Amino acid sequence: MSAGYEESELLSGFQAHFEQFSTQALHITQEPEQWTSMAMVPSISLSNNSKQSTSGQHAGFNYCCSANLTQNCLEKAVAAIDGAKYSLSFASGSAAMMTIVHLLKSGDNIICMKGVHGGANQYFCRVASEMGVETLFVDCTSMKSLNAAIKPNTKLVWIETPTNPMMKVIDIKACAETAHKHGDIILVVDNTFMTSYFQRPLALGADICMCSATKYMNGHSDVIMGLASMNREDLYERLKFLQNAIGAIPSPFDCYMCNCGLKTFALRMKQHFRNALAVAKFLEADPRVDKVIFPGLPSHPQHDLIKQQCTGSSGMMAFLIKGGLENAKTFLKNLKLFTLAESLGGYGSLAEHSATMSHSSVPKEERDALGISDTLIRLSIGLEDSVDIIEDLHQALKAAHPNAIKPAEQINL
Ligand SMILES: Cc1ncc(COP(=O)(O)O)c(C=O)c1O
Repeated sequence: MSAGYEESELLSGFQAHFEQFSTQALHITQEPEQWTSMAMVPSISLSNNSKQSTSGQHAGFNYCCSANLTQNCLEKAVAAIDGAKYSLSFASGSAAMMTIVHLLKSGDNIICMKGVHGGANQYFCRVASEMGVETLFVDCTSMKSLNAAIKPNTKLVWIETPTNPMMKVIDIKACAETAHKHGDIILVVDNTFMTSYFQRPLALGADICMCSATKYMNGHSDVIMGLASMNREDLYERLKFLQNAIGAIPSPFDCYMCNCGLKTFALRMKQHFRNALAVAKFLEADPRVDKVIFPGLPSHPQHDLIKQQCTGSSGMMAFLIKGGLENAKTFLKNLKLFTLAESLGGYGSLAEHSATMSHSSVPKEERDALGISDTLIRLSIGLEDSVDIIEDLHQALKAAHPNAIKPAEQINL
């Protein structure tokens, strides 16, 4: 009625309106009982609530902060691939982390591996601490240090293995034994880098295996999501309650997308590893590179441990370019196939300068102590042809070090 018409004026001269139009448009073929098709692909269930047969009686779904068909489908698949009884999904890896930390109360203490990704560092130091949960950063590669750091109010040990970006590897089994020796301390492993394809933290004694599904699990750089898997019923019940109470859940569409990603997960991980190994070998032999840190290389200081607890390694690695900040910048600026970007684990190769990008929120003294120097470059090796990936690295290294050209015939493509 924007032109100021009365309804009677607007409709005058026309046929009477079709009966029940609005009601039919809202309700015909929308009966909840009918969604039991034999469709091959999980449906995207966008409904944010579900019909109850009588008040308080529902078939596992009521309001969708608790459960959604597409989300449940993903959670069950993830539980299976994590070797877990239960899995829960969240709006992001950070949301999964926040929800897990809500298992604690003010006055409790967390021990966190030194050198976790920038977001975790930020959350523990600037959010959890404000709510009375203090975090102590400890080198959890040393069981002696971990054991000594545990206090009576320590309730959770948080490790990321390998760490981001320094690729330090932690003995999950030893960490679980050390933590559990002190009573009911929950060991959480951030498995984002390795994924359950290569490393199964629950089988090694961890209580919760979490990951940012934003990365490898979804794998297509178009979803933000977090996952947490567990076998302990008490942890599941409490986290399921917190998932609902906090409400940091993923959208049905993202669950659908991540479900699609799972179909190629194993193939992608194999190829990421294959490509990364070729790249790591190339970089390790290159005179323009000071050091390569890749868990899949025998030169990684914890390669034996990696072989004990992992079935391979993902596409994540870091290397130190020779020279200083200017050489690192020139290298990054000259990459053509690689995208200069944060995040990781997608189909395309990414490069980043951790000191000024993913870890810029970590204070400089801490970065220096961790080894995140101006010449450290983190690579997320994608699924392109390895020959093309190496060729791109070669030409960017050449631009960064024009006087130390590596003859093309020496490149082991
Ligand atoms: C190892 C690791 N865990 C968790 C996260 C947080 O995940 P999200 O970005 O999905 O919140 C990140 C993000 O970079 C990460 O690198």
